[in-house]
Amino acid sequence: MKQLTISKIKEGTVIDHINAGKALLVLKILGIHPNSMETVSMAMNVPSKKMGKKDIVKVEGKFINEEQLNKIALIAPNATINLIKDYEIQKKFKVVLPEFIEGIIRCPNKNCISNSNEPITPKFHVWFDKEVIAKCHYCNKKVKEISVYIY
Ligand code: CTP
Ligand code: ZN
Repeated sequence: MKQLTISKIKEGTVIDHINAGKALLVLKILGIHPNSMETVSMAMNVPSKKMGKKDIVKVEGKFINEEQLNKIALIAPNATINLIKDYEIQKKFKVVLPEFIEGIIRCPNKNCISNSNEPITPKFHVWFDKEVIAKCHYCNKKVKEISVYIY
């Protein structure tokens, strides 16, 4: 009855329990795009007991570092990471929301110095209060719908 939506991988990084519909944003956060050479498979809107529906991303042949993976928590705070070697799970962990994030999100405030012509990377203080909230380091503007401001 339970069928496998996408194949198991021999080696690499599996990002599971991604909030439904956010898989493409996960790839963006990880800097994976059509010109990068990774072999990627993904499933969107897969039925899940815990989440109702979820997305899954599998990046073959690559162990993505933990700091980069934790940035996924901005849009998928329940994501679990599985590092795979020889088809076996070597390590499984939940992403941890970073307290501070540089880049990734742009500030919604048009007048913010991070949106000016100055070469200033956006910086945000991040915490969880029912949902993930980011506050601009420069203008204090709070971002609630973070997905919209990922660049
Ligand atoms: N996986 C994979 N390739 C492997 C082993 C596992 O792609 N060689 C994937 C599975 O398809 C699943 C994830 O890694 O999406 C976690 O695998 P597993 O722990 O076996 O599944 P669950 O028990 O359902 O995971 P959890 O307890 O985290 O819900
Ligand atoms: Zn700002």
